[in-house]
Amino acid sequence: MAEAAHQQPELVILQDAAQLAQAAVNEFRTAAQSAITQRGRFTVALSGGNTPRSVYSMLASECRESLDWRKIFIFFGDERHVLPDDPQSNYRMARESLLSRVPLPEQNIFRVRAELPAQQAAEDYENALRGFFQLATGAFPRFDLLFLGLGGDGHTASLFPGSAALSETSRLAVANWVEKLRIFRITLTFPVLNAAAQVIFLVSGADKAGIVHEIFTKPQAAYPSQSVCPRNGRLLWLLDRPAAGMLGESSNPGSARS
Ligand code: 6PG
Repeated sequence: MAEAAHQQPELVILQDAAQLAQAAVNEFRTAAQSAITQRGRFTVALSGGNTPRSVYSMLASECRESLDWRKIFIFFGDERHVLPDDPQSNYRMARESLLSRVPLPEQNIFRVRAELPAQQAAEDYENALRGFFQLATGAFPRFDLLFLGLGGDGHTASLFPGSAALSETSRLAVANWVEKLRIFRITLTFPVLNAAAQVIFLVSGADKAGIVHEIFTKPQAAYPSQSVCPRNGRLLWLLDRPAAGMLGESSNPGSARS
């Protein structure tokens, strides 16, 4: 089969964090309705950190009744190696802001069991992915939607600069030692991120302006987030104006660039 042409990344700049959240909710709703209509289900991997919290909260408020949550299946792009009720847990953040506020069957949530030893947690998560997506050996799951964030060092999910997971080409999920944090993280790997039908980066705040400028002006810089390029899917960057503050003329709200 001919290699699908990479779609050009899209960049949309929103006035502020609230409008970024609204744009992300709109994208989620559209993707979910389309996937459920076409294939009877919607698979999404949530990102962690702070930025998505407002997106998930707005999603719960706006889409509680308007989406068929029985057909929505929730995964995670990565997880910290902590207990699920730890304040650092991405699962806890998602449960508080979204999962506990919508009529989502418990069996539709595939959290990383980060209470296990890190390698075992990654294997367990990988087995859950293989089982749900009924993957043949060597195949990768194709998420309908995958939310990602951007760290100040250019990491995304838990694919940090200089970490071993960057070179993983066959595993779906791995335990990745992050030296600067002195902790393990469990993360999806690039082959999974790049198999997605749609990847949306959510980037907010002036503290991200520098790394955003690097990402968009130095393609040879090789930040981990620059390796996210869906083979046959859409790549959308949703930035608020502060995060896009160093992008020059394109830093106008609502301006889209591809
Ligand atoms: C995590 C995320 C990570 C995050 C970025 C941005 O587990 O922390 O997966 O990749 O998206 O670090 O985090 P903020 O949204 O908090 O800036």
